[in-house]
Amino acid sequence: MEIRVTDAEETIKLGEIIGKSLEPGSIIALRGDLGAGKTVLVKGIARGLDIEDEPVSPTFVIMNAYEGRIPLYHFDLYRVSGADELMGIGADEFLYGGGVSAVEWAERVEEIFPEYTIYIDIKIPEPDDGSENTREIKIEGKKEWVSSFRSTAEQALPASTR
Ligand SMILES: Nc1ncnc2c1ncn2[C@@H]1O[C@H](COP(=O)(O)OP(=O)(O)O)[C@@H](O)[C@H]1O
Ligand SMILES: [Mg+2]
Repeated sequence: MEIRVTDAEETIKLGEIIGKSLEPGSIIALRGDLGAGKTVLVKGIARGLDIEDEPVSPTFVIMNAYEGRIPLYHFDLYRVSGADELMGIGADEFLYGGGVSAVEWAERVEEIFPEYTIYIDIKIPEPDDGSENTREIKIEGKKEWVSSFRSTAEQALPASTR
């Protein structure tokens, strides 16, 4: 499904709905350019998991962990060369464990993602359609998860769902 949000607050709200819908073991693969809003979305996901801290960009470390309804492992792979490096430092213990993993720069390690991964692509549209704060957010995942997520999102963010 695709959602167009008009500002960062809406991206956080969307993240919160996603966070509420997650189960232990969920993996979110986030793709999109620098400044697209991946970290902003993760702040919302953290709220939806009842995490009190606000995630910050973990660019200078590879992963930050947060305690909540389910633990959140927030990865930023901007400085990681690929799947071998990531698995070489033991990331599999977190990725395939009982927490929720949200992985920024997922495009660098596509091969690590299992079939139940939720993929979220965030795009900044061309400047002629909408304000500079508009984002196109595409969400893909298992059919049952997407359809139940869609009905929740349509109620909470009625204007933006497509
Ligand atoms: N609709 C939006 N959604 C998310 N961020 C937005 C939006 N509009 C403007 N922004 C701004 O864009 C920036 C996104 O930063 P960030 O989430 O760190 O990007 P990324 O993690 O993808 O590199 C923030 O400064 C945020 O305030
Ligand atoms: Mg980021």
